[in-house]
Amino acid sequence: MTIYARLIGTGSYLPERVMTNAELETSVDTTDAWIQARTGIQQRHIAGENEFTLDLAEAASRRAIEAAGINPNTIDLIVVATTTADRVFPSTACLLQSKLDIHGPPAFDVQAVCSGFVYALDVANRFIQTGGATRALVVGAETFSRIIDWTDRNTCVLFGDGAGAVILDAAESPGIYSTHLHADGDYANLLHVPKGVSTNLVAVQEGTAFVEMQGTEVFKMAVNKLGEIVDETLAANNMQYSDIDWLVPHQANIRIIKATAKKLGMPMDKVIQTVQYHGNTSAASIPLALDAGIREGYIKPGETVLMEAFGGGFTWGSALLKV
Ligand code: UT7
Repeated sequence: MTIYARLIGTGSYLPERVMTNAELETSVDTTDAWIQARTGIQQRHIAGENEFTLDLAEAASRRAIEAAGINPNTIDLIVVATTTADRVFPSTACLLQSKLDIHGPPAFDVQAVCSGFVYALDVANRFIQTGGATRALVVGAETFSRIIDWTDRNTCVLFGDGAGAVILDAAESPGIYSTHLHADGDYANLLHVPKGVSTNLVAVQEGTAFVEMQGTEVFKMAVNKLGEIVDETLAANNMQYSDIDWLVPHQANIRIIKATAKKLGMPMDKVIQTVQYHGNTSAASIPLALDAGIREGYIKPGETVLMEAFGGGFTWGSALLKV
């Protein structure tokens, strides 16, 4: 019998503080008009001084657990996608496990930047399909604001903080049809934080290790690779563009999202769009958008959802599922 991983609950959390484009106009040489025209972003949420990735992950996880109506102790796998872990170690997943009072099952982080949630979903799906887990908590959580140079207009207008979580259960019917992952490390320097633990821990500790991006190069590659991966995903499942009910894309830039939707022939009202309100929350963006789509009543049980993401690495990936 084939085992599938089925979505039984979603949750998300956004920090209270909202930073508008107008606020950014006062600190860097930019305009609300430029940011909206070039990215679609109107505002983003920023974690409070004493609010950390773990806090965001915990709040989103508790909401997903509540939505699924399960006892947290029945979770037998925790995978957290994050680029902005609170500590070098232990992993955010282990810290989250303790907060949720879960003891024993495997818990680990996955790092694939903006593709992180799709990567984490792929890993959890494989655990469930092979009998290694029966109920997984998969989280995307980021405090990207902590690795942003707030004087660099090329990056600071783009990102925000947040978290999203899903509960996956072993089931006899889909569930996740397939996941597809790719990476090409030759492009590492186009989108990166050039310092890390082994190269400059002082910079990391002092909070001066910041995101650097060649935006236009990243943009072109993202449009190209996301176009390829939607074809790859549909071909793997013998599906047509018309079989997809909802596109839940990584929310980096409305122009990238529109390019993928156009390729799929999907009207924008079949695309969950949160980039306006969240900015780019990296690994959190897809589960945040998915949760919004479900809670606001757009995505309904039995519908087919295509998720796709592109990010630093470069990494890119997709997941096709029935909700
Ligand atoms: O999550 C996955 C990874 N990230 C992404 O997918 C983001 C990918 N990149 C992008 O979203 C876009 O490349 C940007 C939004 C970052 C830029 O848009 P663009 O169409 O690639 O560039 P553009 O031609 O519209 O604008 C570039 C110009 C530059 O000025 P010059 O050199 O042409 O005079 C920039 O200095 O826009 C300038 N610029 C800004 N102007 C006002 C850059 N940032 C800003 C800003 N406000 N915040």
